[in-house]
Amino acid sequence: MIKVCPSSNPCKEEDLLQYAKELEALGVEYLHSDVMDGQFVANKCLDFEVLKNVRDNSNILLDIHLMAYNVFDVCKKYAELKPNIITFHYEALKSERELFKTIKYLKSKDILVGLAIKPNTPIEIVERLTNYIDLLLIMSVEPGKSGQKFIDDVYNKIDVARKLVANKDIIIEVDGGINENNFEKVVSLGGRFLVMGSAFYNAKNKAELLKKIDRHYAK
Ligand code: DX5
Ligand code: ZN
Repeated sequence: MIKVCPSSNPCKEEDLLQYAKELEALGVEYLHSDVMDGQFVANKCLDFEVLKNVRDNSNILLDIHLMAYNVFDVCKKYAELKPNIITFHYEALKSERELFKTIKYLKSKDILVGLAIKPNTPIEIVERLTNYIDLLLIMSVEPGKSGQKFIDDVYNKIDVARKLVANKDIIIEVDGGINENNFEKVVSLGGRFLVMGSAFYNAKNKAELLKKIDRHYAK
């Protein structure tokens, strides 16, 4: 099943609730919510209260992507929003202990556990973790901002990831630079959740774009 997950990042924080409602009306299931701490990545965005406002005033499901250090504490905080998915970065972890403590905590809250890796992080690190995670987020740009170009080397990584998680119940999500010209390739290699920031936000006709993608893949 292919899902388009529009990201919060290109949208101004003050307009996010309105955007979430627009997405809901379009039948979009997940808002990919990009949280940045200003340290793990240079930008800082998506304050807890902004996302809480979306949570309290819309029905869109939250797919939270934390680009932040202090993984356990930040996960615990955002878990209060009862999102469906919380994804944290492998590169942001302090220790193995923090990794497993975070996984255990999220599972105890019935939140799907996502692990994100940056473009230069080898996919092989995920191999030993496939029994513990529900989602693997493969970054196809350097995390930090929307509107960047998809890094071509990542195609191969998606292909390797698909083989690595074969027969496991793990969603492969791909994030960064996805648009109407490259989504088919991402899907053919194994991408299932397609994060779309600027390509979706700036689409002249969002309904048409969704239809175009749906036409390829019956839900
Ligand atoms: C980048 C974020 C992405 C971003 C995607 O750090 O994680 O989710 O918003 O935006 P586009 O699709 O424009 O690359
Ligand atoms: Zn993201």
